[in-house]
Amino acid sequence: MAKDTSDTAQGPAHVAIIMDGNGRWAQQRGRPRLFGHHAGAKRVREIVESCPVLGVKYLTIFAFSTENWKRTQAEVSGLMRLFRKYFEKEAKALFKDGVRVRFIGDRIKLDEKLVTLMDNLELHTAGNDRVHLTIALNYGGRDEVTRAAQRMAIEIEEGRLTHAEVDAETLTRFLDTRFLPDPDLVIRTSGEARISNFLLWQSAYSEYEFVDTLWPDFTAAEFSEILSGFGARERRFGGAKV
Ligand code: FPP
Repeated sequence: MAKDTSDTAQGPAHVAIIMDGNGRWAQQRGRPRLFGHHAGAKRVREIVESCPVLGVKYLTIFAFSTENWKRTQAEVSGLMRLFRKYFEKEAKALFKDGVRVRFIGDRIKLDEKLVTLMDNLELHTAGNDRVHLTIALNYGGRDEVTRAAQRMAIEIEEGRLTHAEVDAETLTRFLDTRFLPDPDLVIRTSGEARISNFLLWQSAYSEYEFVDTLWPDFTAAEFSEILSGFGARERRFGGAKV
C-alpha cells in the first residue's frame, strides 16, 4: 500500500549515494583521475562501517553508470581493475562486518573475471543481515526499466503474465532492485545537483541532499550530520498534512 506520510525521526533506513568528485579531487592535487577513484574506494569502507551505528540498514552506491563507458579507455579499464581488486581484497572484511553485498546493473558488458568476483561476493555474503550494501555497476535507471519491460514482454509472449497484470507493483518486481525498499534519502557529493540516471523509478518520493564535498573527502562524520538533518524533514508521499 502507498504511504501517505511518514515519521522521519528514526532516520533513513535506505540511503543511496552518488559518489561524485573523484576526478576533480585528483586534479586539484595534480594527480591522474584514477588516483581520485582509489581514494574514493577507501571512503566506501568508512561509510559502510558507519551504517550500523547510524541505523542505516540499506546502503546503495553508484559505482559505474551505463554512460561511464564514454570515458577514456584508460579510465574505464583502470576503474574495472579497481573494482576487481576491491571485490577480491574487501571480501573478507565485508563478510566479517556482517555486510550482505548485492549488485544492480547489466552484467552483460562486464568482463568475465569481474562478474565471477561479483557472483562470489553475493554468494559468500548471502547469509549476512547487518548492512545490505548494493553496488550499482554498469547501472542506469532507464536501462533498468527497459530491461524490466523486455522481461515482462517475454513473460506475456510466453503466457506467464497478462497485459492486465502489468502495473507499478509488477514492474517493481522486474527491476534489478526487487529485493530493496525504495531509498529514503539520496545523497550526491561534489556540488552537482543532478540525478544522472540513478534509481529513477525507486526515488520517486526520496528526499535529496546535495553536498559540496568531493567524494574522497566525504567522512562518516559528515554522513552522520546529514542523517541527523533528515529527522527534521516531513515526508508526505503526495499526501497532505492533517
Ligand atoms: C564519479 O566521480 C565517480 C565514479 C564514476 C566512480 C565511482 C567509483 C568509486 C568511488 C570507486 C570505488 C567504488 C567501489 C565500489 C569500490 P567523477 O570521476 O565523475 O568525478 P568528477 O566529476 O570530479 O570528474
